[in-house]
Amino acid sequence: MQQDADAMRRAVEALRRGEAIGLPTETVYGLAANAWDEAACRRIFAIKGRPATNPLIVHVADRSRLGEGAEIPASGPVRERLEQVADLWPGPLTLILPKGQNVPSIVTAGRPTVAIRIPAHPVALELLACLPFPLAAPSANRSTAVSPTSAADVREELGDRIDVILDGGPCRYGLESTIVSLVDPDGPLLLRHGALSAEFLANRWRMPLSLLLRSGAIRPSSEGHAPPSDVPAAKSGVVGAAAPGQMRLHYAPRTPVWLADDPRLPSERRGRWGRIRFREATSSGGMPVDADRTYAETRVLSHDGDPVEIAASLYATLRELDHRMLEGIVVDTCAEAGIGRAVMDRLRRASANHGAS
Ligand code: TXA
Ligand code: MG
Repeated sequence: MQQDADAMRRAVEALRRGEAIGLPTETVYGLAANAWDEAACRRIFAIKGRPATNPLIVHVADRSRLGEGAEIPASGPVRERLEQVADLWPGPLTLILPKGQNVPSIVTAGRPTVAIRIPAHPVALELLACLPFPLAAPSANRSTAVSPTSAADVREELGDRIDVILDGGPCRYGLESTIVSLVDPDGPLLLRHGALSAEFLANRWRMPLSLLLRSGAIRPSSEGHAPPSDVPAAKSGVVGAAAPGQMRLHYAPRTPVWLADDPRLPSERRGRWGRIRFREATSSGGMPVDADRTYAETRVLSHDGDPVEIAASLYATLRELDHRMLEGIVVDTCAEAGIGRAVMDRLRRASANHGAS
């Protein structure tokens, strides 16, 4: 979607004044502010109701400006690992790197490392190119809620708290970026499944997938918030410690979410329920069937169960059904491969109220 020049000018002015704005990216919409301005970043935490222990991602304009957020060593393993994937930027990949001096510690929740990415969205790139500073931007939802994938979603979440929301149309991926730490001594370590698959990244670094996923760092923590730490979970023994902010209940609508294969799903359901299918229900002959008569609302995310299509509309559909006054939403599960890992990760967190894991 073409962003008009007036909206872009208002965004630049608001950011220069230290305000936070709604920013489209290819993954989800962000709540962006000047990453070098401590007060502006404090505002992000206040607007979202985000705990100060959960660090932000710094978005930079292009590879030549990475130094605005990170301190990249001239040589050595961090630099080599970065060079093996740097061409994936702009794109849905966030890397944990040594923190640059210009970035205030509020952005990184006091850590010596910083999360960096270059977003692949024309509006975000145009804006970043106009600015003399990088943008700190978490997803533009209130803390623990479903991430917004359209400008209207941002308005719904935060419209009463921010003045400028750039409209870049619906997000292409609809799921957050994949986060990988490059500062772990044992090599790249995946901290959050996301739009770029773990299999693809392991192949890039020529490492076994199991090594990239080692330590269970991305399993939901059993507490509200993971404690701040740069020690990988396998070493600290604290599940979730390497991925701050990976709260057990997260990405959740207000309506209870149930996984369709959860044995605790009540078989006698009272009231109106919703159903999210990943593919069209078909008879043995392949004809579409009406399998969902007991549900008040049914949505099908992909005709043939394409995981990329499922991911792209999952959040928007959860958000839409959340408005329908339902007792619960029953959601399909999918294979944990490729982007399906991120889909299942988010659904487990969205359904964590029932203890499903
Ligand atoms: O796709 C995305 O990544 C979106 C768009 C707006 O770029 N942003 C996003 O931000 O999802 P947020 O704040 O919702 O998630 C960022 C996560 C944090 O929860 C935390 O786990 C991780 O990034 N993170 C940030 N800094 C870190 C650091 N220094 N070390 C480890 N993890 C970090
Ligand atoms: Mg978020």
